[in-house]
Amino acid sequence: MRTIAVVNQKGGCGKTTVSINLASTLAAEGKRTLLVDVDPQGHCAVGLAVPEEQIEQSIYDCLVGSRRGEPVKLTEILWEISDNFELAPASIDLAAFEQQLSGTVDRENCLKDVLAAVSKDYDYVVVDCPPAVGLLTFNAIRAATDVVVPVETGYFSLHGLSKQLDTLSVLCKQCSQHINVMVLASMYDIRTKMGREILVELRKNFSGKMFWTVVNFNTRLKEAASLGQPICEYDPASRGHKDFQSLAQELIASDTQIEPKQRPIIQARQEPVAIQSSIRAKERKEVIEALDDNLESISSSAQELLAGLKSGQPKAKSKQKDIDSKLNDFYGVRQFEGSVRFVTLYPRAKTVQIAGDFNNWQPQQTIMQPGKDGKWELALELAPGKYRYRMVVDGQWQRDPYNESVEMNPFGEYNSVLEVK
Ligand SMILES: Nc1ncnc2c1ncn2[C@@H]1O[C@H](COP(=O)(O)OP(=O)(O)OP(=O)(O)O)[C@@H](O)[C@H]1O
Ligand SMILES: [Mg+2]
Repeated sequence: MRTIAVVNQKGGCGKTTVSINLASTLAAEGKRTLLVDVDPQGHCAVGLAVPEEQIEQSIYDCLVGSRRGEPVKLTEILWEISDNFELAPASIDLAAFEQQLSGTVDRENCLKDVLAAVSKDYDYVVVDCPPAVGLLTFNAIRAATDVVVPVETGYFSLHGLSKQLDTLSVLCKQCSQHINVMVLASMYDIRTKMGREILVELRKNFSGKMFWTVVNFNTRLKEAASLGQPICEYDPASRGHKDFQSLAQELIASDTQIEPKQRPIIQARQEPVAIQSSIRAKERKEVIEALDDNLESISSSAQELLAGLKSGQPKAKSKQKDIDSKLNDFYGVRQFEGSVRFVTLYPRAKTVQIAGDFNNWQPQQTIMQPGKDGKWELALELAPGKYRYRMVVDGQWQRDPYNESVEMNPFGEYNSVLEVK
């Protein structure tokens, strides 16, 4: 069984779209496939038309039950979506997962244990992660043989990628298994010069660590999600479906390449002999070092690429700190001479508004002004205090992609957080 965690702490980069459509396409290729949603937002169920009000038990019950001595079998929570394709849905309860298991031993291995019980039943498990690094994402990484990082082919996504890979590196350091980390270019818009240039540079810099397949920006994928269908059902002739077929085939073709050497090396429960432990420790160290090198090189490639694009010289070197501080000076939320300035980038949006506890969550009261090249701005006068807000982009509510300070709200989604001094 191959377990693929779809990870990126950046919100809205296509994780759920990739998870649903990769899983459904693998199933259509005849692979027994399980899609596991560990995002409290529960978007996989929405995207596959599973009615939220009829989800009585979710992955939350399996994960928490496994540590509370009240085990719930994975088979009890599954929804059959189509031939070979099942979904383990998430629920809002997951928002409290971290808090509820705090102090519990082995809490980062809940998903790994739950999946170990069904390892003979599936060829592939795809895990859709939340847009935050926390215990849920860590559980997914601990259970994974592969991590897929979907990256939008835009300048600012590279900025996110570099940070993301650093974080992944820290998480993977704490894992005992080899993880095959691959970048997937997503939402690629061939019509833009920037998109094309970035794809070329990504290919040069990430060779071997990037899928050949690119997921193009395709409105049929958006429509399919809003109608609760995977793309292979909604529009098999679409570009979106062709991309996911190609991605599934690329993954299937790599099955043999990563067997058996790169499969999880530590199988503690099956190794009874004490002397095995010193060998295992050595192997673990080697694996961790290899993985760490691997991630460091991807991460530094991302930084170089980013620096190069910024200066117009693709290979120019620059320190991550400088790049980050420059970008952060530009986009995000800043206090500036008595007002709070929000600056963001949505090149395709028609309207961008802000809703927060400072305006009673009424987005129409705070409309951002469009600037050049997809930039949007707004200045507000706010009294000192802590505020929560969300961006409303063409009617869709989402966290501020340039503010890393977030809090989960009662709906299982992320609010951005702002402190005015
Ligand atoms: N290749 C694509 N072409 C067109 N639209 C896309 C594509 N990929 C994703 N989208 C759209 O972009 C939006 C965000 O995608 P998605 O929900 O998959 O991102 P996400 O990373 O899972 O978000 P979150 O971080 O909130 O979980 C959705 O409206 C989705 O339909
Ligand atoms: Mg998602």
